[in-house]
Amino acid sequence: MRSGPPRSSRYRRGGLAAMAAMALASGLMMVSGGAANGAVAERVDNPYQGATGYVNEEWSKEAAAEPGGAAVANTPSFVWIDRIAAIEGSSDSMGLRAHLDAALAQGANLFQVVIYDLPGRDCAALASNGELGPDEIDRYESEYIDPIADILSDSKYANIRIAALIEPDSLPNLVTNAGGSAGSTEACATMKSNGNYEKGVGYALHTLGAIPNVYNYVDAGHHGWLGWDSNFNPAAQEMKKAATTEGATVNDVTGFIVNTANYSALQEPYFKVTDSVNGTSVRQSKWVDWNNYVDEQSFATAFRSQLVSQGFPSNIGMLIDTARNGWGGSERPTGKSSSTDVNTFVDESRIDRRIHAGNWCNQEGAGIGERPKTAPASGVDAYVWAKPPGESDGSSKEIPNDEGKGFDQMCDPTYGGNDRNGNNPTGAMADSPLAGDWFSAQFQQLVQNAYPPLS
Ligand code: BGC
Repeated sequence: MRSGPPRSSRYRRGGLAAMAAMALASGLMMVSGGAANGAVAERVDNPYQGATGYVNEEWSKEAAAEPGGAAVANTPSFVWIDRIAAIEGSSDSMGLRAHLDAALAQGANLFQVVIYDLPGRDCAALASNGELGPDEIDRYESEYIDPIADILSDSKYANIRIAALIEPDSLPNLVTNAGGSAGSTEACATMKSNGNYEKGVGYALHTLGAIPNVYNYVDAGHHGWLGWDSNFNPAAQEMKKAATTEGATVNDVTGFIVNTANYSALQEPYFKVTDSVNGTSVRQSKWVDWNNYVDEQSFATAFRSQLVSQGFPSNIGMLIDTARNGWGGSERPTGKSSSTDVNTFVDESRIDRRIHAGNWCNQEGAGIGERPKTAPASGVDAYVWAKPPGESDGSSKEIPNDEGKGFDQMCDPTYGGNDRNGNNPTGAMADSPLAGDWFSAQFQQLVQNAYPPLS
């Protein structure tokens, strides 16, 4: 049985949000103008267009204090609200209002926020397990989403476009890790059968989508996760299912984001999925392993079309997290391999230097990728920095904590891997702190291996 407040406690449209929603419904959209005179910001197709993004003050300080960090410390990135307490903040960490006020003070009109606290969070891994148990959907709605919605709908922030990244990894985990395949986990099977990821995502989309200046982007994994035929269309169907749950509709979705906190290359410059070597398709190489995509931009574009054919609006836009997928530095190939062996050809040509595309924790050799960029390609709203460079993906050994975070062996450089990375070594950096904590050595490596280079 569910406990907690009844459904009627759900956030309701009020004040300015209600006025704007009515204006939208009647087609009487008010254009620009400040909140002070009662007008609200115009609803746009791509919220990144012409916008100035908020530079996360807390992250910026950490970055600026590192050698070489000044070159990136003024880059806008997402603010992660990764637990209920993060909404309010504390004496040593800024809450949501403090960040939004800082955005106003900066003169920014784009605020990027990650909604990340589902019940049973991070079901296929342990590093980012959260505070809510698998059944705590009511707390998610009333103690997490509702208070966030109250703050975001404050008229003070009406002229800030808010890009909300909805729940990294959740729906992709339901598609590939919740039953049937070798990489499945019991925790993901539970979240699939209790429906609480879908309910949570639907509730977040519906509630935040009712706020006129919020733009929802749902997390859609990355090419090395959903790029296979067996996962591609089921993933688009899963997105549709969640986006039509708990009162949400496809119109609550502005778009999708790929590569959140991952390392997959934006574009592989030296080989394409259609290439063959000595008559053998690169899809047969160990690295590509029959995937239909070799990089994020091609995946994002194709997945976008698939989502539209599932019934999402034809103007949805994609975001790609390019914070850590630059793969520059001395190990970066400078051209196509001349090998006639398909595995050697791919391994020598690819800029993604990971041991396996399923590796995700604090990757050795990674570099900062493209700086945030608006409308870089057709169907792509922006390249963004979703995972702030220098924040750990997980600890390399067990560290007691009160955030619900576990120890995932994929963050241990000495571990031999599991089914989800083809039982390969993890490629993780040693001595890493808890997920989200500052990891100086990683930041310095990311700066060093940035591509495009930083100077
Ligand atoms: C962690 C969060 C953190 C986020 C951004 C996630 O892996 O679980 O606590 O806020 O990364 O660094």
